[in-house]
Amino acid sequence: MLSTGRRAKKESRARAYCSSANLGPGFDAFGIALDAFYDEVLITRLDGNEKRAAGNITISYAPDGNSKKAPPPTNPAANTAGLVVDAMLKRHAISDNIHITIKKGVPTGLGLGSSAASAAAAAIACDDLYGLDQDVAELVTAAGRGEEASAGMIHYDNVAASVAGGFVIVRPDDPVVVAQFSPASNLRFCVAIPHIQTPDKKTKVSRGVLPRKVTLKDSTRNLANASLLAASLATGDDTLLGRGITSDVIAEPARKHMIPGFDQIKQSAVNAGAKEVMISGAGPSVIAVMSGASKKTQQRVADAMSDGFKTAKTRCSVVICRPAPGAKTTNARMRKEEVARK
Ligand code: HSE
Repeated sequence: MLSTGRRAKKESRARAYCSSANLGPGFDAFGIALDAFYDEVLITRLDGNEKRAAGNITISYAPDGNSKKAPPPTNPAANTAGLVVDAMLKRHAISDNIHITIKKGVPTGLGLGSSAASAAAAAIACDDLYGLDQDVAELVTAAGRGEEASAGMIHYDNVAASVAGGFVIVRPDDPVVVAQFSPASNLRFCVAIPHIQTPDKKTKVSRGVLPRKVTLKDSTRNLANASLLAASLATGDDTLLGRGITSDVIAEPARKHMIPGFDQIKQSAVNAGAKEVMISGAGPSVIAVMSGASKKTQQRVADAMSDGFKTAKTRCSVVICRPAPGAKTTNARMRKEEVARK
């Protein structure tokens, strides 16, 4: 093993936004970054240049205001950011001792790409720390390693959205290909986040209920619906959105029983003015897409989703948000300016 890369800095910090994966019919292939929540990851090179050995990555969590759950594991082999950094160091034959500090802003286990946000921020920070200059597909591939920790397998939809920002289409196999689009500026999303207990390894569990085989008819319908949705988000043509033509006929029917009141939430939100309503990633959050909606309509959709959950005796938080930019490094000056703006 070689030691430190030539252009290594002492530390680097990056921020990555949360995301909603699938967007209905785009299972494992579509994602959108949302400006509702973000994670930050700080990677610090420790002094000394010992031989690489087990335990050369340590991890800690900065105090967290959002999640009520127990913090994720700090064992690098079971931690999203740890897996990403370990893979990147190995790939580039870097033998430094590293400390990773994770500040979680994205609530975990709720279908908002929490692990992916940490993974994306870790990939960007590590890339910057060592001046690796990796392209988007390489960064997404590296960040995808982190999904193994939570989903039990790699899926790239959330990490692609968090790394690249906006709406992404990702080809999940080797080679990973990422197409990124900036959606129309009048697009808004309403995310309803139920206050329910989700199982550990929730994504793994909700992948377990998916059908192993799909009919040609359903596969054709989902392909057409996904293509219309992608065309709508890429071109801004909102006539291609909703009315059932962008819905998911494969994963949603198999998963919706895991979301209390899903059918009611969907119907109420559409009646209130949402174009499309989907399970956010593997759930249990639900996301409504709105195009050109007034503030009043956005609030009506939010209330409708909240009322929908209420019909199933479930409380929820509702966030209205926009597409977010891709992951980027942050420095002390940027953070100070943000605090001053608040
Ligand atoms: N595409 C993944 C799934 C997203 O639906 O299982 C998980 O966040």
